[in-house]
Amino acid sequence: MEAIVAVFSDWGIGSEGTQQVVLKADRRHFRELTDGAAVLVGRRTLGDFPGGRPLKGRHNIVLTRQAAEIEGAEVVHSEAEAAEAAKAYPRCLVIGGASVYLQMMPYVDTVHLTQIDLCPQSDRFFPNLDASGDWRCLSCGPWQEEDGVPYRFATYVRIPKKED
Ligand SMILES: NC(=O)c1ccc[n+]([C@@H]2O[C@H](COP(=O)([O-])OP(=O)(O)OC[C@H]3O[C@@H](n4cnc5c(N)ncnc54)[C@H](OP(=O)(O)O)[C@@H]3O)[C@@H](O)[C@H]2O)c1
Repeated sequence: MEAIVAVFSDWGIGSEGTQQVVLKADRRHFRELTDGAAVLVGRRTLGDFPGGRPLKGRHNIVLTRQAAEIEGAEVVHSEAEAAEAAKAYPRCLVIGGASVYLQMMPYVDTVHLTQIDLCPQSDRFFPNLDASGDWRCLSCGPWQEEDGVPYRFATYVRIPKKED
């Protein structure tokens, strides 16, 4: 499984249920990478989408503990059920939020990061991949700017465990 996330310089990803800074270039990048794939999303992040509705052009798998049906989405009720549902698709990307990234990390081998060089106050964070020792940066684009905000795209991959 893959994950896609926009992180600030302290690995913050959101505050009060939303993203503090949204870049058009990041939205485009997100669309390109997720189009036609399955996406795995937490119920709170779904609530922050336009109209609170699943994303068009992707198969939406929504994690919730509630006995809810969500139009246009497949609903799953546990991390294990989410991992099982993802197997049915050639590509599945975890798209947040924080609790879902954290729980699904063991299943993720590639992370598409948008690094935004700002540090607004966040109440939700992505694990710091540079500090973990389990990840390496495979590729990193140049710093660019949108409305004076510096950002770049990077891809991290899990370092295979050495067999004893
Ligand atoms: N920067 C980025 O790229 C990015 C991307 C996505 C989200 N975000 C930010 O992340 C924040 C939201 O993250 P969050 O951690 O508060 O919420 P979240 O992960 O989006 O959703 C949490 C909800 O998912 C459901 N859930 C989680 N684990 C579950 C499990 N094991 N089994 C069943 N259901 C489960 C529960 O829904 P129920 O309450 O319905 O049971 C839970 O309340 C927002 O600020 C958002 O803007 C940032």
